[in-house]
Amino acid sequence: MSNHIKITVLPGTGAEITGIDLRDLAAGEFEQIKQAFSDHGVVFFRDQHLTEADHIALAERFGKININRFFKSHADFPQIALVGKEPDQLTNIGGGWHTDHTYDFEPALGSILVARQLPTTGGGTWFSNMYKAYEGLSDGLKEALSGLNAVHSARHVFGSAGDYKNSVDTNERIVNSTAADELGDPIHPVVITHPLSGKKALYVNAAFTLRFEGWTVEESQPLLDYLYQAAINESYITRFEWQPGSVAFWDNRASWHNAQNDYQGQARMMHRITIEGCALTA
Ligand code: SIN
Repeated sequence: MSNHIKITVLPGTGAEITGIDLRDLAAGEFEQIKQAFSDHGVVFFRDQHLTEADHIALAERFGKININRFFKSHADFPQIALVGKEPDQLTNIGGGWHTDHTYDFEPALGSILVARQLPTTGGGTWFSNMYKAYEGLSDGLKEALSGLNAVHSARHVFGSAGDYKNSVDTNERIVNSTAADELGDPIHPVVITHPLSGKKALYVNAAFTLRFEGWTVEESQPLLDYLYQAAINESYITRFEWQPGSVAFWDNRASWHNAQNDYQGQARMMHRITIEGCALTA
């Protein structure tokens, strides 16, 4: 099988990997996937046939599973978070550029997303490359960011006064809002050294970053807005269209993602397993 593995680096973010069966990875294939994952921010697979148990087994090869505290979980497999939208729901989960779990002191490594039910059209996921976002900045701005940290939180998103609670139709998909109220505010470097690749990546995002450490929100916002816009340069983006059997495994430390909400009146259900990460350093 490993003779057939092919890794095609995509122009924006990520690499598409063909010629493998994710249910039965040889050690060499596993290492090549891990390398592509850390080098390119996300790896995509097509025509896979993963049961829930296969999905869990695959994730466990990459690390310990993080049981999601705020997403409703699969009735039989608590390791699987449900990222779903029903035909009568207007809002989706993850619609808007973000990276997951920056509100944790040890942010999750990434997630493996498996398509279970797809709309007839739309419902793609866009990815942007945070290595390229960093590299694209001027030397002067890179220098200015090198000493900066940022404060992150999820209270305003998952908490009892947060975006999901205030949204009329996402509440039953997002749970434990009072636990979200108790979350602390971790501080991470604005530019991290990726723990696997050793490359520099921009590590702020509009969903969970509150401000720069030692700066007010008002002082922080203009520079954060500049960075958010710079990070979605067209040349950094891959627009992934899902098909039955598609799998995406993204690296939260090297990419952003944005779930498209362009399939009103139709259902979409994705199974997400998140893998634990580590504290991040500059
Ligand atoms: C997410 O985990 O942010 C959602 C991704 C997706 O549904 O495409």
